[in-house]
Amino acid sequence: MEYKVAVLPGDGIGPEIIEEAVRVIRAVEEKYGLKVELNYAPVGGAAWEEHGNHLPEETLKICRESAAILFGAVGGPVSEQNLPKWKDVERTALLGLRKEFDLFANLRHIRLPSYLSGASPLKNEIVKGGFDIMFVRELTGGIYFADPKGRAGRGSGEKAFDTMVYHRWEIERIARLAFEIARKRKKKLTSIDKANVLTTMSFWREVVEEVATEYPDVNFENMLVDNAAMQLVKNPGQFDVVLCGNMFGDILTDEAAGIAGSLGMLPSASLREDNFGMYEPGGGSAPDIAGKGIANPIAQILSAAMMFKYTFGREDISKDIEKAVDNVLERGYRTLDIALGNVKKVSTKELGEMIVNEVLKS
Ligand code: IPM
Ligand code: MG
Repeated sequence: MEYKVAVLPGDGIGPEIIEEAVRVIRAVEEKYGLKVELNYAPVGGAAWEEHGNHLPEETLKICRESAAILFGAVGGPVSEQNLPKWKDVERTALLGLRKEFDLFANLRHIRLPSYLSGASPLKNEIVKGGFDIMFVRELTGGIYFADPKGRAGRGSGEKAFDTMVYHRWEIERIARLAFEIARKRKKKLTSIDKANVLTTMSFWREVVEEVATEYPDVNFENMLVDNAAMQLVKNPGQFDVVLCGNMFGDILTDEAAGIAGSLGMLPSASLREDNFGMYEPGGGSAPDIAGKGIANPIAQILSAAMMFKYTFGREDISKDIEKAVDNVLERGYRTLDIALGNVKKVSTKELGEMIVNEVLKS
């Protein structure tokens, strides 16, 4: 079996952590006797240098010819934000790829294993048991993309506006996917909305409730977004699968990631209906630590694990990689971002190497 993957390392720590994920992919090839063809393409500031564009046509072409995209990170240092190289880079590259490939479903697996509970900023009594939440965020609709949006008028009457729209089919497809995922987990689904104020969101609630009747085995609840923001810090362990529209999902996943302690551990998948997917770590380009060999490669490695599961249908491989990561962490090896207390601090490469060895040995 041959799998074709577009590899977009991008900026900052992107290239370093992608390198470790690629080593894990090579180990998987060896162990399972399969072939993964990797085609590298530039994106973000790295693409700007060569092409004067954050998402060059050549890169899109390579992505179109692949079954999945392994994405590193884009973005530059705060002090350089106004340079053309970085201006709107995240928006152009990320929103561009999401729209181009109709990546409507964003899965963010936010997990705090109990042995890392000390990394959370929350009190130990709240997080000592750890938590494991799968956020399912609608990614190509809602207020991010709907028209009209723009600016008009002048003086004190000058205004700016965005429009929030959700179609029935958009809500139905993301809700079904979330329920299917809940079925394979702890069978609990919390749908987030603002049905008490926004028309789009009472429609969201109505449609999700209809879909819920197809899944009587899943324990379903609605939750207002403001309450959800509070519940996340009071008792994150109550959540299993959390379904959100585009903007609420953006906000709540950052909150949840913050509670989990390190962005360096969080993988994500952005999926199209036919299982084409983009796999991206949650942490961004972290230019302050780029090139120092200290970045945590785990989010990128776990994103590759998600790729095997969701695009290639190889849950066995995905579990194998996840287990390898857990085993290395449980033996006390950590990169700096999660190095609390009496642990063995290792570099990006060393941690990658250990995960590779673990995959090969088990
Ligand atoms: C994310 C990011 C993006 C978003 C930005 C960079 C466009 O915050 O992936 O969550 O808002 O979706
Ligand atoms: Mg965000």
